[in-house]
Amino acid sequence: MSEWQAVSGLKIAIDGPSGSGKGTVAKLLAEEIGLPVLDTGLLYRLTGAVALERGVDLDDEAALASMAGEMLTGLSWTCDGISYEGEPWTPRLRTEAVGAAASTVAAKPLVRQALLSLQQQLAEAGCIMDGRDIGTVVLPDAPAKFFLTASVRERARRRWSQLKQMGHADDIDAVIMDLKKRDQRDRERQHAPLAQATDAISIDSTTLRVDEVVDRMLGILERRELIKASV
Ligand code: DC
Repeated sequence: MSEWQAVSGLKIAIDGPSGSGKGTVAKLLAEEIGLPVLDTGLLYRLTGAVALERGVDLDDEAALASMAGEMLTGLSWTCDGISYEGEPWTPRLRTEAVGAAASTVAAKPLVRQALLSLQQQLAEAGCIMDGRDIGTVVLPDAPAKFFLTASVRERARRRWSQLKQMGHADDIDAVIMDLKKRDQRDRERQHAPLAQATDAISIDSTTLRVDEVVDRMLGILERRELIKASV
């Protein structure tokens, strides 16, 4: 049983750049308070991966948006990951090539529009949702919003060790370069860029352990009376 109980339908937004620890923190926080986690990056990764597989031009916004719209019917997206047309896709979405394609398709307003209402519907029952525009666009009324950051070097180190564990050897300088490019694309795109919502609480995780970040979040949620200790 969870240590904490969340108020009914609680929505928590966690945004931040790649490698800031959003996914890990969201999972741990979810275990503590018993809410599902939805990783919105998986939606953009799936869109990028399906486009690559079908040879859809990553610059053809209309074709990508219509593909994303059609994808919704074959999609099952839960805390355990994403399945498409009955097959689990999550493992193959974690590669750098898919990450780069995801960042390109995510810059297209029509693609974002096609994926928006699914995210809002699934959040309705209460969840922790992580991404780039959750606090600003997807769930602007969420009563708790966090913006996680960390230095580029630390984020690259985390990404590099994840890649190594998955057997995708890459050198760390290549990971730093790729991360900087992706940061720039995510922050500078015109539509729903990576940005901190004015009412989000920023946490720099460069020198914090995951459990320390989660403890800070729990403290904030408790003070706002959004969670209470389970008896
Ligand atoms: O978090 P991630 O690395 O899995 O995200 C993959 C890409 O999708 C990344 O370039 C940012 C983009 N993204 C986005 O634009 N909006 C979101 N809510 C989530 C991810």
